[in-house]
Amino acid sequence: MQFAGFGDVEFSANGCVLTTLSGREYLDFVGGFGVFSLGHRHPAAVEAAHLQLDLMPLSTRTFFNEPQALLAEKLAAITPGDLQYSFFSNSGAEAVEAALKFARIATGKHGYVSTEGSYHGKTMGALAVTGREKYRTPFLPMVPGASFVPFNDLEAAEAAIDENTAAFIVEPIQGEGGIIPASPGYLRGLRDLCDRKGILLIVDEVQTGLGRTGKMFAVEHAGITPDILTLAKALGGGVMPIGATIGTAAVWDKVFGNNPLIHTSTFGGNPLACAVSLAALNAIESDGLCQNAADRGCELLTSLRSVQETHPGALKEVRGVGLMIGVEFNVKDVAELTINFMAQRGIIAAYTLNNPKVIRFEPPLVVTREQTATAAEAFAESVSDAAAMLEGLEED
Ligand SMILES: Cc1ncc(COP(=O)(O)O)c(C=O)c1O
Repeated sequence: MQFAGFGDVEFSANGCVLTTLSGREYLDFVGGFGVFSLGHRHPAAVEAAHLQLDLMPLSTRTFFNEPQALLAEKLAAITPGDLQYSFFSNSGAEAVEAALKFARIATGKHGYVSTEGSYHGKTMGALAVTGREKYRTPFLPMVPGASFVPFNDLEAAEAAIDENTAAFIVEPIQGEGGIIPASPGYLRGLRDLCDRKGILLIVDEVQTGLGRTGKMFAVEHAGITPDILTLAKALGGGVMPIGATIGTAAVWDKVFGNNPLIHTSTFGGNPLACAVSLAALNAIESDGLCQNAADRGCELLTSLRSVQETHPGALKEVRGVGLMIGVEFNVKDVAELTINFMAQRGIIAAYTLNNPKVIRFEPPLVVTREQTATAAEAFAESVSDAAAMLEGLEED
């Protein structure tokens, strides 16, 4: 793992604070890569879990269950535009897997266009549209039909779509690719392009969704509605694993119209996960977490940019939206050392999977101004330490 070598074991957690077996406390600025948007053990999520555990945690799958219906209703209400139906699974990769299957059956075509540097998960379908060869090559041959174009390049997207293309799949902010936000107009351009070409637009909000970017869904910044939207991570309120593939009636009719069992999951939509998820969505709204993400994100971005001004040699760029912020280093080793120095100062940070030069800041959305200030200060000191250490080594 990114911070292997700390030599300690996580033991308990509360809010933004993680405590290890040895009793040391850390501020969690990785946030489970988006899982802990509510923080660790948010009381609403924990209470919902306890209540549902005492009622019926898993479903017989012979009747409908109420928590699943209520969660689907809630998602239909809060997702943009005419996104209306949810298929529930247990992870981000499964949510993407379903989206890819749904696109095939809805269009009668089999191809996908995805973006270089993207990350959509590691099951065979999700991996086939993940834009990093390192993870695909050992498992060749992939599910056929995927091609890749540079992110934020509409011309390349248009050129890659052909008569076999079923869907374009994209993250509003490439997370594992190095926290790279879609440039203004990119998502809107993709929406227009997909409409013109008669293909589906799948937006993967597994990492960006549910308040992380300062809005409930990152597509709201662009004002678009995809045909299919995927969620996971924060959907489980930091307590349960759950994924969701959400689509329009037009897609759903084609997928499930003839056979409601065409795609199923034994554990997907289980009452325990759905009850927790519903409580989590309500808490995101009632705790004002979208606004907190926007406000704390703005402060953190400003603080990190001032560190960049002090260390232009070490830091290439600070970018992000809301509480999904990446700091790109010029040299990977400096990023790695900085992560270690931050850990020594009690802050957990990590790099992005497809780009180890980028340290990500994705704290829980419940983070306070004091906590972001503490993290920014620790980051500034750690960059100084890392730069000085490498300078010292070069001189030796
Ligand atoms: C955008 C995106 N999609 C899909 C996934 C896969 O999710 P999971 O690890 O739950 O399968 C991730 C995980 O990081 C992700 O960031």
